[in-house]
Amino acid sequence: MLPFPITIAIDGPAASGKTTVGKMLADQLGYLFLDTGCMYRAVTAAALQQDTNLEDEAAVTHIAQTMQLEIASGAGYDDGRQYTVLLDGRDSTWEIRTPAVDANVSLVSSYLPVRQEMVRQQRAIGGKGGVVMVGRDIGTVVMPNAPLKLYITATAAERARRRLNDRQRQGQSGDYDHILADIIRRDEYDGSRTHSPMLPAADALILDSSDKPAATLVADILAMLESLSASQPVS
Ligand code: DC
Repeated sequence: MLPFPITIAIDGPAASGKTTVGKMLADQLGYLFLDTGCMYRAVTAAALQQDTNLEDEAAVTHIAQTMQLEIASGAGYDDGRQYTVLLDGRDSTWEIRTPAVDANVSLVSSYLPVRQEMVRQQRAIGGKGGVVMVGRDIGTVVMPNAPLKLYITATAAERARRRLNDRQRQGQSGDYDHILADIIRRDEYDGSRTHSPMLPAADALILDSSDKPAATLVADILAMLESLSASQPVS
């Protein structure tokens, strides 16, 4: 479809559907998929495991710089995972999704040296193109030259409903009001932090997924890519 592999940057708030859309898009294009949120989650899970004081920026940074993080395919598992996260060699795919990680990941991801280390690793993984990278700062900071930048959003109520469904599918309990409050708190924190706040890039296309199934959004994006490649050379 495209003359050569490009970088697709997808940003947006928690549970906006960006990860589902990004993974489907990557699979259809035969691209690498990188959900950068899992990297900040992995740092948080590792710090919690080691009983690190999460307010100790230097200690958390040390963990970010030394932990062995591997993101592998989710194929072969029937537990709904999109990919497998190995933290120091141990399968931590679900451990990075616990309420304790949800509650602390915004703080961990607000630390500049943690972000610098994650961005370095993200560019090393996706710098050659042929990648769909998903996060909060991909279009603005990590891959500002990506030829296609999307910002996928949805109402907070719809996002809370989706997060509750995810939890229930994984056999966890969850309270809608609690989840909604956490999503709103995280939106505020991630959007107002000093370093790389969650923001659409100036040239990002904003898509609302509240009333659109992921498959429809993916079809729209693929059609957009067709016209992009027909109208201009992409790099
Ligand atoms: O997408 P998610 O909910 O798994 O992300 C977890 C947290 O990581 C989120 O609260 C903000 C942070 N994050 C970030 O700061 N930058 C990214 N590129 C991705 C996630």
